Amino acid sequence: MALEPGKRGPAVITKREVTIVINRGGPVVGDSQEEAPVNSKSPPNEEPALRTLAMPADANWFGDIFGGWVLAQMDLAGGVPAIRRAGGRVVTVAVQAMRFHQPIAVGDLVTCFAKVVGTGRTSMHIRIETWVMRHRNGEEVMVTEGTFVYVAVDDKGVPRPLPPAQSPTQSPIDSSG
Ligand SMILES: CC(C)(COP(=O)(O)OP(=O)(O)OC[C@H]1O[C@@H](n2cnc3c(N)ncnc32)[C@H](O)[C@@H]1OP(=O)(O)O)[C@@H](O)C(=O)NCCC(=O)NCCS
Repeated sequence: MALEPGKRGPAVITKREVTIVINRGGPVVGDSQEEAPVNSKSPPNEEPALRTLAMPADANWFGDIFGGWVLAQMDLAGGVPAIRRAGGRVVTVAVQAMRFHQPIAVGDLVTCFAKVVGTGRTSMHIRIETWVMRHRNGEEVMVTEGTFVYVAVDDKGVPRPLPPAQSPTQSPIDSSG
């Protein structure tokens, strides 16, 4: 997925403001690729950033889990690789290309996978997928995906430059500042 600053989809996310598009038909916002068939693959073969159970307190009276709860889990999960990459404190500055594919039901086992897909001077783009194992039948499906942007900050909350990358897989998206 291309992560080019300034080339965002129709739901532009500005500083200090999060806009989330719940879109069941069109392409993923901010992603120029054709929409891939959902749930046509297996969960990523990597260590999850977060795993938890969807509980009744997080659901409406239909038993569907609140989108805000899922976003919170994704935000927590994305913070894991962001903190590791930044070597310290980070804050979430934006949510991009967010997509809710399928509902989560009470009792589903929820797993978030998160990885750094791009870095700038102080910011990191973290790609996050949420998968569930359905409590009813054990089926595994991807229910959400999105790219969260985190910024490394100092103890006063001021952006600080990222330390040099440890992993050769991280690709810079913009180092011009
Ligand atoms: C994140 C924060 C520290 C950035 O401060 P700032 O003065 O706007 O800093 P800058 O303009 O230098 O931007 C810092 C980086 O964020 C990136 N950025 C800022 N807004 C962005 C957005 N909407 N989308 C993507 N990246 C963004 C900038 O491109 C820059 O990246 P780079 O250094 O890699 O080039 C500040 O906006 C903040 O504290 N926001 C609140 C964070 C928070 O509380 N999050 C939790 C929400 S409950």
